[in-house]
Amino acid sequence: MSVPRPVRRPRRLRTTPAMRRLVRETRVDPAQLVLPLFVREGADEARPIDSMPGVSQHPLSGIGAQVRRAADAGLGGVMLFAIPSTRDAMGSQACATDGILNRAIAASVDAAGDDVVVMADLCLDEFTDHGHCGVLASDGSVDNDATLEIYASMALAQAEAGAHVLGLSGMMDGQVAAVRDALDGAGHASTSVLAYAAKYASAAYGPFRDAVESDLQGDRRAYQLDPANGREGILEAALDEAEGADMLMVKPALPYLDVLAEVAAASAVPVAAYHVSGEYSQIEAAAERGWIDRRAAHLEAVTSIARAGGDIILTYAAIELAEWLRHQ
Ligand code: PBG
Repeated sequence: MSVPRPVRRPRRLRTTPAMRRLVRETRVDPAQLVLPLFVREGADEARPIDSMPGVSQHPLSGIGAQVRRAADAGLGGVMLFAIPSTRDAMGSQACATDGILNRAIAASVDAAGDDVVVMADLCLDEFTDHGHCGVLASDGSVDNDATLEIYASMALAQAEAGAHVLGLSGMMDGQVAAVRDALDGAGHASTSVLAYAAKYASAAYGPFRDAVESDLQGDRRAYQLDPANGREGILEAALDEAEGADMLMVKPALPYLDVLAEVAAASAVPVAAYHVSGEYSQIEAAAERGWIDRRAAHLEAVTSIARAGGDIILTYAAIELAEWLRHQ
């Protein structure tokens, strides 16, 4: 059999590790990575989270050391979440100056110095006894505009604690404008807003609900996006950018790379993607069974997110990734 010999041979550029390194299109830098951290009120030692191997809830006294670890690894930021010891219908600990998240922010900012950016989750789900991201109306639905008022005061508490970036993850309409207005009105014009613009109602948040011990009544489909809707994600991103978001996020990451790519192409601001708890734990669980190479899987995940247009990547594997990326 005589077949035509290929003239174009793309394999030439794949022949050696040195050649592959030379032609690599996407390089992930540890400075793009953000490590989520959990702080549990009343804990006196780190408590491993069963459904997230390698991830723990930390006591307030240990958070500074975790932030230093992130800084020393060369990461770009940390994202703080808190588990308060009391919850109520209004999520009042979110706005209390001595609330656990606000205290964790202050301790983190202290430890961070100029070395790493301190971000805080701005949402009520960790603080409400019903587990929703906002307060409830009398019919049981999440009351958008009443929630905006609480977000505005939560934003002030977080800014006063010194947070550099507020991560608005509640998916209420108008939340970016409400928070921006509150911040600017109170002299916090330099506090940044990262809008979780396209946040989908995902099965991949399961382990996170364990991590924050949330006992959600119902689901979040009346405010988070339907996984079927791409254009609606683009609309959310455009609205948040117009309301003054400094950065936008798409979340989860890998199932929504199409949305991420489109938001990155359409927006003038940096775009983040969150490789969420379920995405992380799927890799960890398969790796524990020997079914997948966890280093390769995590590297492939962050590389693909960056290739699709993610400028900033939140991942629970950030510390190890920083090390792996240096020796890739
Ligand atoms: C809301 C919030 C959630 C996550 C980040 N911020 C939970 C939710 O919307 O249900 C999920 C992150 C993850 O799964 O890793 N405070």
